[in-house]
Amino acid sequence: MPSWQKVTDLASLKRRKKCVATLGDDEILVLYAEGRVYALNNTCIHKGKKLARGLVFKGHIICPGHQWAFDLRTGWVDEWAQCQPTYAVRVEDGEVYVDPEPKVYRTKPCLAQEPERKEV
Ligand code: FES
Repeated sequence: MPSWQKVTDLASLKRRKKCVATLGDDEILVLYAEGRVYALNNTCIHKGKKLARGLVFKGHIICPGHQWAFDLRTGWVDEWAQCQPTYAVRVEDGEVYVDPEPKVYRTKPCLAQEPERKEV
């Protein structure tokens, strides 16, 4: 059962495109990209650079450290077959909520099994 935590309001996320929220011990990067909201752990699994300083490009966040390209939907990086933790997101009444329970794939995820992300 998700324990949704409010992280920001949608209007300011749309303006700023990203925000970082601390939930428990985790820094979570919340992104607005291509009309949808995504959440990934802000600390890169490779060498710990902050993804908030990266660029969003074609459905991926590019880490500023060594340019690993993490899929925004799953956190998966094809080239290295590794996964940045992601978080479920819910948008309701203009507020953005994140479930702080991380999701990490051990093998390449099947996108058809991913929950559909609505445009907001
Ligand atoms: S620290 Fe992110 S790719 Fe190396």
